[in-house]
Amino acid sequence: MPASLPSVRERARVLLQGICHVCNVCDGRRCPTGVPGMGGTGTGASFRNNLSALAAWQVNLRVLHDRKDQDLSRKLFDQKLTFPILGAAVAGARVNFQGRLGEEELARAFVLGAAEAGSLSFTGDGPIPELMDAGLAAIKAAGGRGIPVIKPREDGEIVNLIRRAEDAGAPAVAIDVDAAGLVNMVRAGQLVEPKTVEQVAGLAAATNLPLILKGIMTVADAEAAVAGGAAAIVVSNHGGRALDHTPGTAAVLPEIAAAVGDKITVLADGGVRSGVDVLKMLALGARAVLVGRPLAIAAVGGGIAGVRHQLEVLADDLAVAMRLTGCGDLGDIGPGVLRQVWQNNYPGRDKNFVL
Ligand SMILES: Cc1cc2nc3c(=O)[nH]c(=O)nc-3n(C[C@H](O)[C@H](O)[C@H](O)COP(=O)(O)O)c2cc1C
Repeated sequence: MPASLPSVRERARVLLQGICHVCNVCDGRRCPTGVPGMGGTGTGASFRNNLSALAAWQVNLRVLHDRKDQDLSRKLFDQKLTFPILGAAVAGARVNFQGRLGEEELARAFVLGAAEAGSLSFTGDGPIPELMDAGLAAIKAAGGRGIPVIKPREDGEIVNLIRRAEDAGAPAVAIDVDAAGLVNMVRAGQLVEPKTVEQVAGLAAATNLPLILKGIMTVADAEAAVAGGAAAIVVSNHGGRALDHTPGTAAVLPEIAAAVGDKITVLADGGVRSGVDVLKMLALGARAVLVGRPLAIAAVGGGIAGVRHQLEVLADDLAVAMRLTGCGDLGDIGPGVLRQVWQNNYPGRDKNFVL
């Protein structure tokens, strides 16, 4: 077991030289690499927007209340989670980490680390079969506690991979629909495409597992996911890796949650770096959040134990944030916890507050 999170991160800083600076706050400002690598695509604006959208919300400190104990547990896809913080899909060790960590080690660190912490992790997909193989093997090793994210490939190929997810015991299966133009797939000559509502419906009907669509950034796409019979969406811009100049996810999450939150499970990711960030995403309408880069750094620096430790640090931080905002359990976390930064300048005017 690594001694501490700082020592895990220090080890990662050495191993990731030239790829990632392992900054104190991972905000996309100094990334030495984009995609492939650890940064965002193009100018990196979408990555940075995730951080600034979260920073545009402040939290109301409340300490005169009776919520003395915090319960962070939540049920998701029939799985009991100790806390609502999941591992995001992070794959492609060969290209993104220049092979300084193996694909299997990466997938096992995310899936087994999250499972040991009482949560679960997503796994990724890419142009070579090694990525999906490593993810599914890790999910199997964790007794099915993990969710594979399949690229928006040709429908028949997706169904084949869904069958393998079912065999691995996964509680749900996902498609990162925002990878419809992903550069490494395109360069490798692998078909990825936008999906119609009819295609989504066909894929949802092809399995008894809940189908999750990851990479939803508009109300229109969220409504299309509902119409296609998806069980859940992840409000995500792929950590700013799919399309330059998209908004931050915390900016679009409230309107998406307001439109479909009573019809479909809404998850979110992008720029979550602390327990306060988790609290904000939940207050904006997410049932749970996914964390990418901080766990990737923990995986490189500390393997399974590193990921487990990083998740537990985030959960402890969330518990403190809940205590100091008057929340005893996740059901207490709502819009009342939040204050938008512009309200400081225009007190009493809340016309843009859409929750
Ligand atoms: C190196 C790297 C590889 C990734 N690989 C995948 C992938 O294979 N499939 C996927 O759906 N998302 C992938 N993502 C996106 C994450 O699942 C997630 O949406 C994003 O990292 C969340 O933002 P954060 O890193 O700021 O927490 C990847 C992200 C990174 C940084």
